[in-house]
Amino acid sequence: MKILVLGSGAGGGFPQWNCNCANCAGQRHGRIRATERTQSSIAVSGDGQSWVLLNASPDIGEQLRRHSQLHPRHGLRDTPIKAVVLMDAQVDHVTGLLGLREGPCIDLWATRCVFEDLTSALPLINVLQHYCGTRWHMIGVDGDRTACEFEIEAVPQLRFTALAIPGKAPPYSPHRREQVVGDNIALRIENVADGSSLFYCPGLADVGAQELAWLNAADCVLVDGTFWQEDEMLHAGLGTKPARAMGHLPQQGFEGRPGMVDALCDAAPGRKVLIHINNSNPILDEDSAPRRTLAALGIEVAHDGMEISL
Ligand code: MLT
Ligand code: MN
Ligand code: ZN
Repeated sequence: MKILVLGSGAGGGFPQWNCNCANCAGQRHGRIRATERTQSSIAVSGDGQSWVLLNASPDIGEQLRRHSQLHPRHGLRDTPIKAVVLMDAQVDHVTGLLGLREGPCIDLWATRCVFEDLTSALPLINVLQHYCGTRWHMIGVDGDRTACEFEIEAVPQLRFTALAIPGKAPPYSPHRREQVVGDNIALRIENVADGSSLFYCPGLADVGAQELAWLNAADCVLVDGTFWQEDEMLHAGLGTKPARAMGHLPQQGFEGRPGMVDALCDAAPGRKVLIHINNSNPILDEDSAPRRTLAALGIEVAHDGMEISL
């Protein structure tokens, strides 16, 4: 399995266009050692030829331009991107669908909740019917069904399992205040040939027994790296919401509860990589103490263009 990190930043990317925080201004003016990040999305492939996008970031045009694996090959118009799987309906994960409108009909894998958000409150799917169109494949995580296996015809080497996880529906969704099963999923992707697997979860509000078991079973985990601390936005004067109110478990524990770093150290024996890093997160500064802490624990920070083979 080949994994390509197209974007490793959270909503807004890094540096964020309107932000003068220590990280964003520091990166812009070369005062800190930190690299730019586009908004999070990855591509996976079983054979290096046909690719599936996990989330479609608003930065998709630039992301596809940067990677020759994703360029057209045959004929006048072509794309190796055969399907898109959505983990949620957040703006930074779905608006890139519009950037695919020049291509063939999009094979779109999404839960019922996500499909509903994208045909009502943010009707991207309705809009796309006037361009390339979409073929919706329902991911059956709904009600009391919290896991669903599926296969994508174009990538028969990989087997996908969607798992309902604690998180948040987007601010525009009718279920923002009360999460519904299917608003947020994680994906376990298994290489059929040798059983090796990736656990992908760019947004995760909590790690319970079930999530620990999934972290434990994967050869590589690419998980929520949004915030270092619960009160990071407040502390930096950038916002008022704590990390978990936004659907993200911070890396550091708080109020006696474990954080993402604890979960990874306890339960993830394979490769551990953080993704969807918010511009407020001190780990973006490669010389920061938090970044050194991660390095000492063997936890990597995804960067745009990172390639992982399993
Ligand atoms: C989030 O995950 O909370 C988002 O990055 C917010 C956004 O897209 O603005
Ligand atoms: Mn996000
Ligand atoms: Zn910033």
